[in-house]
Amino acid sequence: MGACTPAEPGGQPARPRTGITDQNHKIRQKGHLFFFTNGRDARMLRANFPFPKANPVSQKPRHVETELVHAGTLRSQFAETSEALFLTQGHVYDSAEQCEKRFVGEDPGFIYARFSNPTVAMLEKRLCALEGAEAARCTATGMAAVTAALMGPVRAGDHVVAAQALFGSCRYVVEEHLPRYGVESTLVDGKDLDAWRKAVRPNTKVFFLESPSNPTLEVIDIAAVAKIAKEAGAILIVDNVFATPLWQKPLELGADCVVYSTTKHIDGQGRCLGGAILASEKFINDHVHTLLRQTGPALSPFNAWVMLKALETLPLRIRRQTESAAVLADWLAGQPKVKKLIYCGRKDHPQAEIIAKQMGGPTTLIALEVQGDKAGAYRFLNALKIFRISNNLGDAKSLAVHPATTTHQRFTPEVRASMGVSEGMVRLSVGLEHPDDLIADLENALAQV
Ligand SMILES: Cc1ncc(COP(=O)(O)O)c(C=O)c1O
Repeated sequence: MGACTPAEPGGQPARPRTGITDQNHKIRQKGHLFFFTNGRDARMLRANFPFPKANPVSQKPRHVETELVHAGTLRSQFAETSEALFLTQGHVYDSAEQCEKRFVGEDPGFIYARFSNPTVAMLEKRLCALEGAEAARCTATGMAAVTAALMGPVRAGDHVVAAQALFGSCRYVVEEHLPRYGVESTLVDGKDLDAWRKAVRPNTKVFFLESPSNPTLEVIDIAAVAKIAKEAGAILIVDNVFATPLWQKPLELGADCVVYSTTKHIDGQGRCLGGAILASEKFINDHVHTLLRQTGPALSPFNAWVMLKALETLPLRIRRQTESAAVLADWLAGQPKVKKLIYCGRKDHPQAEIIAKQMGGPTTLIALEVQGDKAGAYRFLNALKIFRISNNLGDAKSLAVHPATTTHQRFTPEVRASMGVSEGMVRLSVGLEHPDDLIADLENALAQV
């Protein structure tokens, strides 16, 4: 493939190519910033997140829907409409001299798909536009992103503080993996700001949290924790998977780095695994770029291409799935066989005030506890017809899972209890089906409990 140029919406010719991306990410161009739109969501979001910043071409802000269709597009000499899938491991050079220059970062362009690929670069730029981040790196899975973001900034002898309510694999990395390399970790109740303060040591380098957490939908005051991290001279990394990039902006709230499993809402159709790390150019430069380049958890260009197309419909999907989740949560709350219901859009959520402050929408996940503990939960799950039993989430298909025996199965019952994961808990991920059909499915399944 020949030279790529960044295209502007409306087919305008792009600015001259100055080197879109290469192994030396210093020359990557910055993504455009955006702001949210549309009715009530827009008002909530604008109140929470002081976007927009003007785009440099028209001086007018672009809306998220526009950015997610156009941002980051690179066009080849064939001027294709849709983003091209550059299914290539490497690139060829005009001369040995050019090759040498490319390797030392003096000649802009791509080298090798372990660390840069045009399709992956398009996805990274589009994710930057979505998140309002300066730089991004995509990875093969969400766990590769979490692991690289956590391991990049630390050295043996450093210390990490993390919220205890984490997805099982995230907790494994903090609790078991980092200590193997001489990095100590402390788990705290993330809702308790004093616990974060008290956990700080002179060698604390990183704070890490998920909010809302998987699967208990526990919400942490990100701005308050970011302040404590800053005072401690530590970096705050937020796993924003459950919130989705549409409903929560950790960087705007003071976090230094955001990580995603793009496997979830970003693909949103259950097809490809992927992950992303978003932060400042400096963060990516100092902590992430070399680690990813040299250790190689690269995202496949094919998966990047699928996710680029998926981003075009992200706002439509997440808004619709969130609306349906809110309807289902209200319906479930009134059912006698539901002992407990947790949903970020309800006033009875224990951290409703923080949600109102930091989230633009209540997201697509519901946690509920049915009567009869594990046996009751299993009867409920086994009777579902439209919701399918699956540990994935954020999918167009509605999914249900029993966290105690799957995502959080490796913990002792005591640890699970401390995380709020009960034997009767079921996590629902609400999809794109009609909410009336989903309620009928839940009604039928609850009758079997
Ligand atoms: C909160 C959270 N973070 C990270 C991950 C890991 O993502 P992946 O499965 O893409 O590695 C998951 C997966 O469920 C998750 O729920």
